[in-house]
Amino acid sequence: GAGFPDELLAIAVDLARRAADTAARMRAAGVSAVATKSTATDVVTAADRAVEREIVETLHRIRPQDTVLGEEYGTGGAGAATGPDPVRWIVDPIDGTVNYLYGLPHYAVSIAAEVAGVVVAGVVRNPATGDEWTAVRGGGAYRDGRRLTGSTETDLRQALVGTGFGYDPARRAHQAAVLAGLITQVRDIRRFGAAAIDLCLAAEGAVDVCYEKGLNAWDHAAGGLIASEAGLRVEGLDGRPAGPDLLIAAPPALFGPLHERLARLNAAGGP
Ligand code: IPD
Repeated sequence: GAGFPDELLAIAVDLARRAADTAARMRAAGVSAVATKSTATDVVTAADRAVEREIVETLHRIRPQDTVLGEEYGTGGAGAATGPDPVRWIVDPIDGTVNYLYGLPHYAVSIAAEVAGVVVAGVVRNPATGDEWTAVRGGGAYRDGRRLTGSTETDLRQALVGTGFGYDPARRAHQAAVLAGLITQVRDIRRFGAAAIDLCLAAEGAVDVCYEKGLNAWDHAAGGLIASEAGLRVEGLDGRPAGPDLLIAAPPALFGPLHERLARLNAAGGP
């Protein structure tokens, strides 16, 4: 029968589909920023909050022993993840909030299930297109039933690179300097505006690699599992786990050259 991670993925997919419907419905009704967070351009919409609340409430009802880490409301949980199989759910209700705000059809609901500090299942769904990427640890990554294997490109100079920027101006200046050093060494750069989808696009080879500094767990928990289950290396610098300092996702042949470039450009440094 289906193992525990498969059951968690089924829950996550069901939650993500409902959440996607809510987000799309609210988008169609018209969206405006209701508040700003870290900076004046780091916006939150009513939908970010409503969607996260909907996901958290459902999780508390169906898995009261679990905890949830969400982008908008932080950590909460009826139980303290103390059951026999305690799970921490890592939720980004809307990744790509700026796209959502502008009506660009490129944003995502991202839900991951973590057991004992390891992400074991994840789903990323784009409500505007219906694209849905999933993975279970050890079970491969899929989009619409098709198994994902990443790019077969082996030359970094031919690589299409996805990346993104944080909201803090000082960090952006550093990220732009890194990008200036990289863009002459690769095919081109893409800045799509939703890090969770960047990882899924790398998983399916629609970009060859992606990297970003400053990501939070909710941006990369699900997408990172999807990329690694597609055969990509998903790491930070010098073998550290991917985290706020840096995330690099690349097929094995491109990982070394990209890592070397980014290390030389001090991509994990700066604010
Ligand atoms: C942002 C997006 C963006 C990335 C930023 C994230 P949000 O998430 O994923 O692509 O470059 O670093 O903060 O704010 O839209 O949930």
